[in-house]
Amino acid sequence: MISKRLEDAINAQINAEMWSAYLYLSMSAYCQDKGFAGMANWFFIQFKEEQDHAQIFYNYLISRGGRVLLKAIDAVETEWASPLAAFEATYKHEQQVTSLINNLMQIAVDEKDFAAQSRLQWFIDEQVEEEENAVDIINKLKLLDGNSYGLYVLDQELAARVYATPSPLAPKA
Ligand code: FEO
Repeated sequence: MISKRLEDAINAQINAEMWSAYLYLSMSAYCQDKGFAGMANWFFIQFKEEQDHAQIFYNYLISRGGRVLLKAIDAVETEWASPLAAFEATYKHEQQVTSLINNLMQIAVDEKDFAAQSRLQWFIDEQVEEEENAVDIINKLKLLDGNSYGLYVLDQELAARVYATPSPLAPKA
């Protein structure tokens, strides 16, 4: 059984992950509109990953005897000044998510909930990757400094990103 405090915090995190999904879907639509189909693909996969994160928390809460309570998803922005601005907003957002995950881990530690700590460790590792991915693309966009051919090549690179089911949602062998 999971504590009420952790149950409430995980329900809030499910909402935060769904909001993240909505944010990245909005960024995908923005990039598509600006003619960057590869970046739109990158954000669309990000959207799917955030839905996965919500589902992992959803499944976890149920597996621990908790009650999932879904709340309204707030509106997201729809316009950015440039693709670089969208990726910078992504990095800023992921830093906030890292802080939310760290808070969840702190609650699990306070409550001596070792099972929750085990699940949250996956998210802690995932956040390292999330922040690193955003920084990598920001650095490339800054290097290109608006060069059209370079942007085209980067867009092609981001078009190659493919979705992979995260290990917590993989079918059990
Ligand atoms: Fe659900 Fe991008 O972290």
